[in-house]
Formats: sequence, C-alpha cells, structure tokens
Amino acid sequence: MSDVKKLYIKTYGCQMNVYDSERMAEVMGGSGYVTTDSPDDADMILLNTCHIREKAAEKVYSELGRFKPLKAAKPDLKIGVAGCVAQAEGEEIMARQPLVDLVVGPQSYHRLPQLEAKARAGGKALDTDFPEEDKFEKLKDRPKAQRGPTAFLTVQEGCDKFCAFCVVPYTRGAEVSRPVDRILAEARDLVERGVREITLLGQNVNAYHGAGPDGDWTLAQLIWALDKVDGLERIRFTTSHPNDMSDDLIAAHGECSKLMPYLHLPVQSGSNKILKRMNRSHTAESYLKLIERIREARPDILMSGDFIVGFPEETEADFQDTMELIRAVNYGQAFSFKYSTRPGTPAAERAQVDDAEASDRLTRLQALITQQQRAVQDSMVGREVQVLFEKPGRLDGQMVGKSEYLHAVHVADAQAARGDIARVRIVESGPNSLAGVLA
Ligand code: 5AD
Ligand code: SF4
Repeated sequence: MSDVKKLYIKTYGCQMNVYDSERMAEVMGGSGYVTTDSPDDADMILLNTCHIREKAAEKVYSELGRFKPLKAAKPDLKIGVAGCVAQAEGEEIMARQPLVDLVVGPQSYHRLPQLEAKARAGGKALDTDFPEEDKFEKLKDRPKAQRGPTAFLTVQEGCDKFCAFCVVPYTRGAEVSRPVDRILAEARDLVERGVREITLLGQNVNAYHGAGPDGDWTLAQLIWALDKVDGLERIRFTTSHPNDMSDDLIAAHGECSKLMPYLHLPVQSGSNKILKRMNRSHTAESYLKLIERIREARPDILMSGDFIVGFPEETEADFQDTMELIRAVNYGQAFSFKYSTRPGTPAAERAQVDDAEASDRLTRLQALITQQQRAVQDSMVGREVQVLFEKPGRLDGQMVGKSEYLHAVHVADAQAARGDIARVRIVESGPNSLAGVLA
C-alpha cells in the first residue's frame, strides 16, 4: 500500500472558506495527503462549513449523515468539520454526529496535522481556540504548483462591528490584519504561479490596517503597492463596510488602473430604524451619499450589495424604505436573504417577523434586484470590455472569462489561452452571462 492518502474537502459559504480550504489542503500535503474530487475514495473528509444562516449548518448535518455508509465500508476514514459551524458548535457536533473524528475552528487550521494524527490514533480531536501564533505564517509552507488566473488572498480576518444579526465576530473572532510584507510576498508568489487577478479577502476588508514598513497601512496603500507588482493585472477586494470606505480608498477607485470597477458594499436595509436596530452605525442617507462620492471617483463602477429582509420589527414601511434605496442605487449585483436567527446574537432575542411575510418581501426584493441586474448587464451590449479568460467554454474554441465588472463573458473563437486578457465587444446579454466577439 502506498503512503499517499486522499483528502476530500467540501467547501460551503464565503470566499474566505475557499481560500482556507486551499490552505488546509496544502498543510495536509505535509502529512502525505493529496486532494481528491470525490468522497468515495477519500481517507479523510473535511467539511469546511458556514454558519452565517440557518440552512448552511443544517446542510452540514445532512451531508455528514450521508457519509455513514462510507465510514462503515472503510473504518479508517476520518471525518472532520472545519469552519464557522465547527467554531460555533464545537463538541456539540461530535455529540450530534458520532461519525465525526475531528473538529477544527478557523483560527486553528495550522494545527490540522496534529489533530489528524490524534484522530488517526483513535482519539477525538477538537480545537476551537483563538491561538496567539500567526496562523498564516504556519500555513504558508506550500508547493509551488501552477495556479489558475484568479486567486483569493486573505489580508484581514474577523470583525469588531457586531451587527445584531451576525455570527462572524463570534466565529472568526476579533479583527486582525496581516502585515504588508507577508501579503506582498504571497501576491508575488501567486503571480509567479500564473495568477493575474487577486481578490483581497476580509470579513471587513476595508478596515485593513496591517503593519507596513512605516506604520500601519490602509487598504488603499496596500492596493497601490500591489499595483506595482509586475504581472498582476487586476485587483479586487471584498467585503467592505460602508463606515470604513476611507477617502484614499475611494480615490484609488478613480486612479488605480488595476483596481477593478466593482464594489461589494452591503447596506442590509434602507430603513434607518432597522439599521439602528441592526447596530450598523450608518444611515440610508449616509450610504447613498457615499455611493455618490464613489461614483464621482469612478462613474462606471458596478455596485453590489447584501440585503436582509424580515429583520425583527421590520414593518412593510421599513421594507419599502429598502426598496426605495435599491431604486436609488441601481445595483448591478446583489445578494439578499431572509433574516435567520443566529443563537447568541443580540437580535435572536427579539420578536420575529411572520415567516410568510418575510418570504413575500424577499420575493419582491429579488424581483427588483433581478430587474436592475439585467438592465445593467443589457447596457453592456455594444460596449467594449476587457475579458480575463479563465476556462474553455462548452462550445469548441469558446472561452469564458470575466469583464472588469465581474460579468461572465463567453467568446466564440477566442484564440486565447487561460490567463489572457483581450478586448471584447459585447454582442448579447443572456440570463446569467454576456456573449462577445474579439474587438
Ligand atoms: N440572517 C440573514 N442574513 C444574514 N447575513 C448575515 N447574518 C445573517 C442572518 N442572521 C447576511 C448579510 C451579510 C451576508 C454575508 O449574509 O447580508 O452581509
Ligand atoms: Fe457581520 Fe459584516 Fe456586520 Fe461584521 S460588519 S458583524 S461581518 S455583517
């Protein structure tokens, strides 16, 4: 028997989980694991979970149940739960699902090899600490494998904002920024491995304040340093909080050509009463004013957002305020959710909105968003955009990539390779993507 073991990781939730799963795969490479796309031949299964909304955690439990026959057929199979459900529920997971051998919170991924060894020795391994040491430093020892043209890079983690509905400050912990030199080194390494677009990640990315050569740097300073990295063509960042949109960051949107004209800036609600109860510490007016300033700096920027409907005590009038704000902004993209109670958060104690009413509001809001999204997408027809090609399309000779505005663009007869950037004239707008021809 060979010593190579197979690791299957299933990732739920946000882009930071995608990044974390890559790091976990790399650190387990040191313990003799290679990744596999199927749980069937795995020696270890890791679910990298999301706790942001109810259904996310429920999906994890039902997925775990499905592994029962696999474990029965292969008693050596180790099953682990990582991510925010692991952090929030800890030992409860093992109690609820005895199949689980290992539970690891997001701040302890660098300790995964030891946890795996403990599980392999027949024990149950749990680590949901918030350790002092720098997780990222311990995770960075990785093979120089070639990468696709786009990559995520975590620059900041955790959140101190404590929005009344949100588990992130509890599962990801206090806000921490990585030092500038480590981020630049990681970015250069990614570029050497074929990456042309980097999305800087953080739960509160624009609150970034990492140690630089001359004191703490802002996110804008970091973006300007990345702008100078040869071979890196595009920079994006997500997710931002309206209150941390500093002047230098707004200005960078107008001045830094590598910074893409797309901004995800969640507002959650358009009602000042609800915003206050959400502990958002901004108003609908201040948000609209901010967007006006961002559009002054970069008129063609595509705005994206997040919305929660049915937050405790939200009335139809509050909901109409949200619809009004959406009309005022004109979003090119938005994500919307029905409020879901997160145990341990302040809003969990409050009177809930009737579920059918909340569902109805969500349907109406999504209809409006879809309409705006489609109109913004349709307005691209006839325009020229720059497309970074990511993969071949389904048709022969076709390539698929993303425009500056993050629209998926299909180009027939593209004569391009993955990682190429080409000028493309948009000729058609479909339900989920654009079609174009080389300009
Ligand atoms: N219920 C519904 N949506 C939520 N979000 C965060 N917490 C909750 C919750 N308890 C949404 C917010 C956030 C996005 C990532 O998820 O809109 O911006
Ligand atoms: Fe959660 Fe974002 Fe609010 Fe932080 S700012 S508590 S991550 S919703």
